Amino acid sequence: MKIYAAEDYKDMSRKAANIISAQVIMNPGCVLGLATGSSPIGTYEQLVEWYNKGDLDFSEVTTVNLDEYKGLARTEEQSYYNFMHEYLFSHININLEKTYLPNGMEMDSAKECARYDELIQSLGGVDLQLLGLGRNGHIGFNEPGDAFEKGTHCVDLTPSTIDANKRFFASADDVPKQAYTMGIKNIMQAKKVLVVVSGADKADAVRDAFFGPVTPKVPGSILQLHNDVILVADEAALSKIPKE
Ligand code: GLP
Repeated sequence: MKIYAAEDYKDMSRKAANIISAQVIMNPGCVLGLATGSSPIGTYEQLVEWYNKGDLDFSEVTTVNLDEYKGLARTEEQSYYNFMHEYLFSHININLEKTYLPNGMEMDSAKECARYDELIQSLGGVDLQLLGLGRNGHIGFNEPGDAFEKGTHCVDLTPSTIDANKRFFASADDVPKQAYTMGIKNIMQAKKVLVVVSGADKADAVRDAFFGPVTPKVPGSILQLHNDVILVADEAALSKIPKE
């Protein structure tokens, strides 16, 4: 694992965008696994800035997102579909037919999860997976549990995640209670993983995920077993990691 320490959120975003840019420049037809949440917004903004300068071309890129709320239509403001369009897709020259997310309006979970796993397979897997880290150590919407879930699955969101995400909704009652998410196996099969984390409220999660035991109680801890992980985190998020 490589750790890049950033001064603050802006510096973290710039460093992460540099890594994604390198991927797109080296392999213009790559498959990017994308994430939502507040952590990657600055990274997307930086990519858009460099795209506007003429430094990046996304025309051959395919994207596949980690997760989506179940029961939210694409048109809903808080859907991850809408998030991706708002922060990235509508600002760059990506072919929208090559941007994929789970379909939150498919109520048949088994059908939707099988479709998404097959889709990822058919794309030949993910070249670079961008991840945030939940306060409880979750990645995607893989919540703490007794076992690592392998493929795409439907999760019941934990009270902690509903509480963390309620800031994006009118109230906690409006946060969907379920979501579709790639599983741990999907994430671990990505060739490269880039994790962006910012802020003191993530310091425990960073310490536990990257320096604690590998356990499904901290889903992000599985990343310690991946052979190409880059963590880009700001000083506040790194404040509780063991000193060398
Ligand atoms: C959300 C998303 C995750 C994200 C995490 C952290 O619930 N499903 O993909 O990484 O929680 O979000 P944030 O970056 O807003 O702290």
